Amino acid sequence: MESTKGWSTEDFRRQGELVLELLAGFVDRGRRSEGGVVRVRPVDELARAMDLERLITDPGLDDKGLRALIETFLAGATNVHHPSFMAHQISVPHYAAALGDLISGVLANGMSVYEMGPVAGTMEIAVVDWMLSKVGWQPTGRNSDNPPVAGAMPGGGVLTHGGSLANLTAMLAARAAAAPGAWENGTPSDLVVVAPVCAHYSLSRAVAAMGLGTSSLVAAPADHLGRALPDELGACLDRISDNGRRVMAVGVNACATATGLYDPIREIGELCRERGLWFHVDGAHGASALLSDAEAWRLDGIENADSVVWDAHKLLQTSALCAAVLVRDGRRLPGAFRQDAVYVTEGEREIGVDFIPQQFECTKAPLGLKFMLVLALAGEDGLAGNIDRLWENTRDIQSLIADREGFETLCEPESNILCFRCGDDDALQTRVRKRIMHEGEFLLSQADVGGRRWLRMVLMNPLTDVATVDRLLDRIEEIAASQD
Ligand SMILES: Cc1ncc(COP(=O)(O)O)c(C=O)c1O
Repeated sequence: MESTKGWSTEDFRRQGELVLELLAGFVDRGRRSEGGVVRVRPVDELARAMDLERLITDPGLDDKGLRALIETFLAGATNVHHPSFMAHQISVPHYAAALGDLISGVLANGMSVYEMGPVAGTMEIAVVDWMLSKVGWQPTGRNSDNPPVAGAMPGGGVLTHGGSLANLTAMLAARAAAAPGAWENGTPSDLVVVAPVCAHYSLSRAVAAMGLGTSSLVAAPADHLGRALPDELGACLDRISDNGRRVMAVGVNACATATGLYDPIREIGELCRERGLWFHVDGAHGASALLSDAEAWRLDGIENADSVVWDAHKLLQTSALCAAVLVRDGRRLPGAFRQDAVYVTEGEREIGVDFIPQQFECTKAPLGLKFMLVLALAGEDGLAGNIDRLWENTRDIQSLIADREGFETLCEPESNILCFRCGDDDALQTRVRKRIMHEGEFLLSQADVGGRRWLRMVLMNPLTDVATVDRLLDRIEEIAASQD
C-alpha cells in the first residue's frame, strides 16, 4: 500500500514482525540467563554504539538499519526477564501488557475526555471497579451494569501515570476534605501530614508541591525497622494539635519501599476513624498481596482507609506505567482538582465519563487496556500465584542468606523485598553493589535502614531462586575478599 503521512501499513507489518522477533529473543535469552542483566555503560559510549547522531541527521531506517539499531539497543538494555535482575520494583511484564502498549501506541486514544477513547475509558472503569472490590469497597457506579449495593456509598478512583502521581492525587483529595477552599486560596499553613519517615519520597514531594514544605511532613512514631507504632501515634497527634497544627492525613506503608515491611493498618485506621482523620494507605508496591489467600492478611483493615494507592506495574505483571488512586468515598476525588477548562468540558455528559475532574494528567495513555489484557490472560489466580511464588522465594532466600557465615539479613521478609549485608562495613556494601553493577551479571539496589547500609533485593522475577542467589553470594564473597 502507498505510503501516507510518512509511513505505510506494509512497513508497519514487516518491521513490526522483525521487532517482535527480536523482542521474543531478548526475553528467551533473559529467561535462560544468557548474558548478564545489564552492564551499565556511560552515555557517550551508548550514544556512539547506537549511532544516535547519524539517526537524527540521516533518518529513514531501512529494515537492516532497524534490525541493527534494535539489536544494539537490546544488548544494552536492562533485562528484567533475567533471573539475576533483583534490584528495583518494576514488574517482569506479561506479554499481554506489551500488546496493550502496542495497541495504545497505534490508537493514541487519550484518557481525559470520553470521546478520545470510549472503549479504553470503559476498560479503565472496569479496572478501577475491580481494584475497589479487592480493597473491599463499592464500585464507582460509572458502569450501570456494575452498580454499588443499594444505599451504599460508591467508591472512586482513576488510573495514573505512576504511584507518585497517585500519592499526589490522594493528598490533594485529603487537602480538599480538610480545607475545601484550598484550590482557590492556597494550602493553609497549619496543615500537616503524618507518616513514617520511611514513607516513599513521593509523599514528601506531594507535601512540598502543595506548598506546605517538607517540614509539614511529621514523622509518625516508628520502631527500629521504620514500622509505625499505633500505640504511640495518639500522643503524636495530640502534640500536633497542642502546637496549633491540623492533621490533613495520616499515611502508612503497605509495604515500605526500603524494607518491604507492612505497617499495622487496622490499628492506625481505627485511630484515624476515631479522630476523624483522613487515612491514606500507600500500597503502591504491596497492595497486590490482596489477591493472595495466603498473604492478604497483611493488609487487614485496608477497607478503613480513605485513599489507597496501588501500582499494577509493580506486582501485577503490567508494564510501566499503570497505577491507581482509589477512594472509599467516590465524592472525594473530584475535590482534588477543580477546573473549568472550556475546551475540554461541556458540563453534564449525555454519554460516558470524563476523567479530567479526577486526574492531574490531560493527555493520559489508555492504562486500563494493558492491565485488562493481563488480567484476561493470566487471570486473578495467575496473578495471585505469581505473588505467592515471589513471597515464598524471598523467604527461602532469606533463610539461605541468614544461614551463610559472614552475611546477615535485616529481618524476616513480609513481601518480596529483602535487605541483607556482607560483613559489618557500610562502605563494603557500596563497593559490592558498584562492582556487581559494573560486571553486569546481577543487579542489586541498596538502602540505609537503622543507621546502617544494606544491599537490597527486590524479587520481581519468579525465576529468581535460591540457586541464583547462591551464585550471587559466592560472587559477593569474592569481591569482599579482594581489594579492588
Ligand atoms: C511505597 C511506594 N509508593 C510510591 C512509589 C512511587 O511509585 P512510582 O514509581 O510508580 O511513581 C513507590 C515506588 O517505588 C513505592 O515503593
